[in-house]
Amino acid sequence: MEPKLIGDPIDRIDGKQKVTGGARYSADIKQPEMAYAVLVMSTIANGTIRDIDTASAEKMPGVLAIMTHKNTPKLPGYDANKPGATALGRVLHLLHDNQVDYSNQPIAMAIADSFEHAVDAANHVRVTYQPKTPAPGLPTSKAEPFRPQKLPRPDDPVDTQRGDLTKAMASAEVSLKQTYTTPTQIHNALEPHTSVAVWEGKQLTIYQATQGIFPSRERIAEYFALPPENVRVIAQFVGGGFGSKGPVWADGVLAAMAAQYVKRPVKLELRRSDMFGMVGSRSATTQQLEIGASRSGDFLGMAHRSLNQTSVFDDFSEPAGILTRVLYKCPSQEVTHRSIRANIGATSPMRAPGEAPGMFALESAIDELAYQLNMDPIALRLKNYAETDQQKELPFSSKSLRECYQQGAERFGWSKRTAAPRSMRDGNILIGMGMATATYPTIRDEASAKIKFNADGTVLLSIGTQDIGTGSYTAMTQLAANAFGISTDLVTLRAGDTRQPKTPVSGGSRTTASAGSAVVQAAEAVILKAKQLALNDLKSPLKGQKESDMVVEKGRLFLKSDPKKGELLTTLLKRNGGNALEASTSSKSGDEKEKYSMYAHGAQFAEVRIDEALGEIRVSKLTGAYAAGRIVNAKTAHSQLVGGIVWGVSMALLEHAIHDPRTNRIMNANLAEYHVPVNADIPDIDAFFVDEKDEIVNPAGVKGIGEIGITGSVAAIANAIYHATGKRIRELPITPDKIM
Ligand code: MOS
Repeated sequence: MEPKLIGDPIDRIDGKQKVTGGARYSADIKQPEMAYAVLVMSTIANGTIRDIDTASAEKMPGVLAIMTHKNTPKLPGYDANKPGATALGRVLHLLHDNQVDYSNQPIAMAIADSFEHAVDAANHVRVTYQPKTPAPGLPTSKAEPFRPQKLPRPDDPVDTQRGDLTKAMASAEVSLKQTYTTPTQIHNALEPHTSVAVWEGKQLTIYQATQGIFPSRERIAEYFALPPENVRVIAQFVGGGFGSKGPVWADGVLAAMAAQYVKRPVKLELRRSDMFGMVGSRSATTQQLEIGASRSGDFLGMAHRSLNQTSVFDDFSEPAGILTRVLYKCPSQEVTHRSIRANIGATSPMRAPGEAPGMFALESAIDELAYQLNMDPIALRLKNYAETDQQKELPFSSKSLRECYQQGAERFGWSKRTAAPRSMRDGNILIGMGMATATYPTIRDEASAKIKFNADGTVLLSIGTQDIGTGSYTAMTQLAANAFGISTDLVTLRAGDTRQPKTPVSGGSRTTASAGSAVVQAAEAVILKAKQLALNDLKSPLKGQKESDMVVEKGRLFLKSDPKKGELLTTLLKRNGGNALEASTSSKSGDEKEKYSMYAHGAQFAEVRIDEALGEIRVSKLTGAYAAGRIVNAKTAHSQLVGGIVWGVSMALLEHAIHDPRTNRIMNANLAEYHVPVNADIPDIDAFFVDEKDEIVNPAGVKGIGEIGITGSVAAIANAIYHATGKRIRELPITPDKIM
């Protein structure tokens, strides 16, 4: 059988397990004597607990314990005053005191012999409060904005300035100054957060739905003052993450606390309603965009001033302005970030944190400017195409955005669009076409991998990384198989477990770039060993040849200049005692980040059809062209794009967590009222990749694709709605009432 190549759309290696129920997610884990924990949540958003009465709950059938701040043993590594300030190190509410900082905060935990008994007991816990007025979030907040200490990624400064914005705006012939707002969104992965904690003496094993088994291990170990090697985190399968399973939240630590308290394994699986508060939210934003241009459409000055919200106990600040710094040519610019504090659950990364709301504002503003200039929106973007990253003053490692505009426009049928708003219709249906640029940085972290090439031609790949549903296990397997030119069937993968080599969090679209590069380098190290073995082997046809003259294809090592001269790796190994060749590598970036700016790009197109009488908005067509370096698996990569684009539909038209301004409680804390799209809301999506080769970005040659899909689709839809109706809606979500 011909080996499958990189880029081939092969099925997931775990696809069969997933569709037959063989894949065991954290909530499927069973342990002998396992108990179940259920959380009791606060019903006020600010204040203190006056008393918790657990007497009747404790008498309920099957109850093992009710843990509250009154009886919970203090964790040795707990420090309530430790600043959170990073996406992975926030302050957690762990039943250590009677403080309530937000509504739906865990304040007690019922542990019983069954889930149902635990729910029942939790419902019998009686709480009285000493409430205080909660500080509301955006847009009602009256709090004084403050300058955050930092943005989530250390490379992003909080504020940047270049050129002379005042002068640029004064010289502009056409200008725009508008405010765009986005609402709070709540994380709702299909699989709620779950942890199953098992103690054996001072050893803790935790089966956890997490995007980062290693960061989770370190954080949990810190709380229990254990060396990290005493904690093992296993995540064989994860049902979606999107940023919410990046950090370990209170539930992940509480499961281990409960297991220690009742001296039994404990499963803590969040219920859907538990998700609204304690596992992160995308911050609401208020963003002011200012653009000044010449009559011919050259951007002269640009400002992006964004305001976000953060909780009273943490410091996450939504980095909405970061892409404005790099995406277009513009000599004078100001980008700032400010925050207000509110009594809400922690704000946190959600698919393209910063980029998603920021690109809605930026790409809407550019569309508005295109109408003012009477220019085609693509032509305006091309006019201001950035050949270099102007903020960092660096070249791009590769940038195929022009090709994305061109190929996307062609596949979408952009030429059929008539320029004027309200100029396209089909009876009572207004038709609109809009587009927007998409982009997302390529991030890479240190990762390690181990590869063992056996004399029988099979390969064992060991790499810690979790697969959060994106297809990472398949991509890792393909990269290893590809290095030897063998079929993926010959590769066995050991992953999703902190006993395997260390890899980073699967967030920021970094898994293939990071862990994939480690696989590529480990395979290279194995191949180097094979070359050395061959050139020193009297019986090898490659005896005395140079390493650099040899290559591997289809499991065979041979001379580049004379392919007939060579032998199968299996032949070489069998002749040399039948031992496997094994190599471990730790792979990290060199100085390419100092020399190049690295981004994936895309052009997203949308068509909407709007009932003029009812204001009902249907997205009828979505086309997106993306350039992201080497595509390891065309099938799983395509599904990443589609997933991001669908979330864009959700963000543009539906998602909105509504806080009651008096109580700060989320009024639609369920999936019936917190709207997300269903199949019927989504047209066929034509998402495709434009060829791009990037040998600088990382050894795997890949750019991140998990998040880019959402960065263009929101504005593309908003811009299409304007084109259809002539109404510019700057406040998400765009619901029928706003366009009527
Ligand atoms: Mo993603 S929001 O960086 O997991």
